Amino acid sequence: MQFVSLPVACYITAIILALAKISEAAETITRYEVINDSMTLVSAGGKFKLGFFRPGNSENRYLGIWLNIPTQTIVWVANRNNPLNDSSGVLKIGDDGNLILVGHTESIIWSTNIQNMSSNITIAQLLDSGNLVLRDEKTETYVWQSFDNPSDTMLAGMKLGWDLRIGLNRYLTSWKSADDPSPGEFSYGVDPRGLPQSVLRKGSAKQFRSGPWDSGIRVTANRLFIPKVVADPEEVYYKYDLYNKSTLTISVLNNSGALQRLVWNSSSLGWAVIYTLPNDQCDNYGRCGSNAICTISDAQICSCLTGYVPKSSQDLDVLIWSGGCIRANPLNCPRGEGFIALAGMKLPDLLEFWMNTSMTLKDCRKECLKNCSCTAYANSNATGGGNGCLLWFGDLIDIRKLTEYESNQKLYIRVTASYLGTRAKIQARDEENLELPIFNMVTIAEATHNFSYTNKIGEGGFGSVYKVISTPFLKPI
Ligand SMILES: *[C@@H]1O[C@H](CO)[C@@H](O)[C@H](O)[C@H]1NC(C)=O
Ligand SMILES: *[C@@H]1O[C@H](CO)[C@@H](O)[C@H](O)[C@H]1NC(C)=O
Ligand SMILES: *[C@@H]1O[C@H](CO)[C@@H](O)[C@H](O)[C@H]1NC(C)=O
Ligand SMILES: *[C@@H]1O[C@H](CO)[C@@H](O)[C@H](O)[C@H]1NC(C)=O
Ligand SMILES: *[C@@H]1O[C@H](CO)[C@@H](O)[C@H](O)[C@H]1NC(C)=O
Ligand SMILES: *[C@@H]1O[C@H](CO)[C@@H](O)[C@H](O)[C@H]1NC(C)=O
Ligand SMILES: *[C@@H]1O[C@H](CO)[C@@H](O)[C@H](O)[C@H]1NC(C)=O
Ligand SMILES: *[C@@H]1O[C@H](CO)[C@@H](O)[C@H](O)[C@H]1NC(C)=O
Ligand SMILES: *[C@@H]1O[C@H](CO)[C@@H](O)[C@H](O)[C@H]1NC(C)=O
Ligand SMILES: *[C@@H]1O[C@H](CO)[C@@H](O)[C@H](O)[C@H]1NC(C)=O
Ligand SMILES: *[C@@H]1O[C@H](CO)[C@@H](O)[C@H](O)[C@H]1NC(C)=O
Repeated sequence: MQFVSLPVACYITAIILALAKISEAAETITRYEVINDSMTLVSAGGKFKLGFFRPGNSENRYLGIWLNIPTQTIVWVANRNNPLNDSSGVLKIGDDGNLILVGHTESIIWSTNIQNMSSNITIAQLLDSGNLVLRDEKTETYVWQSFDNPSDTMLAGMKLGWDLRIGLNRYLTSWKSADDPSPGEFSYGVDPRGLPQSVLRKGSAKQFRSGPWDSGIRVTANRLFIPKVVADPEEVYYKYDLYNKSTLTISVLNNSGALQRLVWNSSSLGWAVIYTLPNDQCDNYGRCGSNAICTISDAQICSCLTGYVPKSSQDLDVLIWSGGCIRANPLNCPRGEGFIALAGMKLPDLLEFWMNTSMTLKDCRKECLKNCSCTAYANSNATGGGNGCLLWFGDLIDIRKLTEYESNQKLYIRVTASYLGTRAKIQARDEENLELPIFNMVTIAEATHNFSYTNKIGEGGFGSVYKVISTPFLKPI
C-alpha cells in the first residue's frame, strides 16, 4: 500500500500546490504573499476561511476566521479592538517574522506581536481545525496560534484554561454586540486554584461555575464530542474532541452572557442549540445566598443547610428568596460539634479553602475540627475510595443539588451537637459516614409539624433533612 499510495499522494500534493499558486484559496501566507480585503485563505480541508468581514450592520471591517457554511459564523477576530474603516487592510508577514495587519499608509492595525522571535523565517497557516498558526521554519514550532488567543468561540481541539509553565490563560470573551466584536463584559474560563472549575463571569462577578472537576462533575457524555479535563502542575484546561470529524459543533459565549453549545444541522442548514449555560435558576451563581442549597425540582428552590436558618425571617413567607442563611445556634467551638454528610451536591465555591491531596478523610475531619472557622470538609479526590482533603472556611456559597448524580463524593457540613442528637446510639458506626438516622415517618411528621417549610433546614443525600423540635420520642427504626 505504501508504495502505491505515496506517489499518488505526492502527485495530488503537487496539483494542490500548483492550484494554490494561481488561486487565492491558499492555506498559507509566506513572505512576499499578502491577503487583502478581497482575498481569503482557506484551510486545506475547506472547513474554515480567513479574511475580512463586516459584522451585522456595522461599516467597520475586521480580519477574522469563519466556518465555510452558508450561515456567517465568525469564530475568531484578529483586530477586535481596532477596526478598519475601509478595505485597505492587508495581512502579511512583517520584516521581523510577525504576522501583521496593516491599513492605510502601512499603519499596523494588529500583530501577532511576538517580541523574542528567534528567526524572521515564518509561515502563517490556517489549519483545518480553524487554528491560525505562525510557524517558525527554522525550529519548526508554532510561535503563535489563534487557539491561544480565543475570541468568543471554542472549537474542537482548542484548550480552554491555563498553561501554568508560561502563565498563559486562554478564555472566551463575548462580543459587545452583534455589530461589535470588541470584548464585551462576559468571559468564560478556568479557575485553576484548588480543584479546577470553569467560571462564567460578568466583569469580575461570577455568573456560573461548573463545580470542581475532580468531584465527579463532568460535562455530560454525549455522542457528538468527547470532553476532556486535564489538571496537572503544568496545565489546567478543558477541551473537547469530535467522535466524527464531519460533526460541526462549537461552543459560543454570546453577547448576553450565555454559553451556547451549537451543532450544525446539514439538512436544515442551520445551527441547533443543544444546551445553554447557565441552564436553570440553580445554575445562577449563589442563587440562594450563603449556606443554602438550590434544588431545582423543589417548589421553593432554596433551603438552608442543616444547622442554618434564613437570614431574614421574611424569607420564610416568600417562594423565591436569595437572602442566604445564618447559623441557627452558635457553634460551641471547639467542643461538641460534628458533621453531617450531604451527597449529590455541587461542592461550595472555593473562596477561602485549604487543600492537601495526600490526607485521609479521617485526618481531614480532625483538621477541620481544629479550626473554629472551618465550616465543611470533603475528599479532594472522590475517585476510588476517595482521598485528599479540602476544607472550607466561612460561608458556603453556590451549593446545588445535582440531578441523576452518581458519585461517592460527600460534603461534610459542620453542625452543633444538637443536630447530632442521637449520636450516642450510632457511635458504633463509622463517624465519617455519620448521617441522620432513619426515623419512623409518623414520628418525624409529628416532630416536624408535618414537614412544614420552617422546619426544613437542609438537604441530605437521600432527600430532605428536617430540624426536629423535640427528640425524646424519636427512635430510629
Ligand atoms: C487585492 O489584490 C488583488 C490582486 O493583486 C487585486 O486584484 C485586488 O484589487 C486587491 N483588492 C483590494 C481590495 O485591494
Ligand atoms: C479611517 O481611519 C483612518 C485612520 O485609521 C483615518 O485617517 C480616516 O480619516 C478614517 N476615514 C473615515 C472615513 O473615517
Ligand atoms: C531576516 O533576518 C536577517 C538576519 O537577522 C536579516 O539579514 C534579514 O534582512 C531579515 N529579513 C527581512 C526580510 O527583514
Ligand atoms: C519567548 O518568550 C516566551 C514566553 O516568555 C518563551 O516561552 C519562549 O521560549 C521565548 N522564545 C525564545 C525564542 O526565546
Ligand atoms: C460521520 O458522519 C457522517 C455524516 O453524518 C457519516 O456519513 C459518517 O458515516 C460518519 N462516520 C462515522 C465513522 O461514524
Ligand atoms: C444568548 O443565548 C441565550 C440562551 O440560548 C438566548 O436566550 C439569547 O437570546 C442569546 N443572546 C443573543 C444575543 O443571541
Ligand atoms: C435537522 O433539520 C431537519 C430539517 O429541518 C430536522 O428534521 C431534523 O430533526 C434536524 N436534526 C436535528 C438533529 O436537529
Ligand atoms: C499533607 O498531609 C500529609 C499527610 O498528613 C502531610 O505529611 C503533609 O505534610 C501535608 N502537606 C501540607 C502541605 O500540609
Ligand atoms: C483558621 O483558618 C483561618 C482561615 O484559613 C485562618 O485565618 C486562621 O488563622 C485559622 N485559625 C487557626 C487557629 O488555625
Ligand atoms: C484520584 O484518585 C484516583 C484513585 O485513587 C487516582 O487514580 C487519581 O490519580 C487521583 N487523581 C488525582 C488528581 O490525584
Ligand atoms: C399533620 O397532618 C395531620 C393529617 O393531615 C393532621 O391531623 C395534624 O393535625 C397535622 N399536624 C400538624 C402539627 O400540623
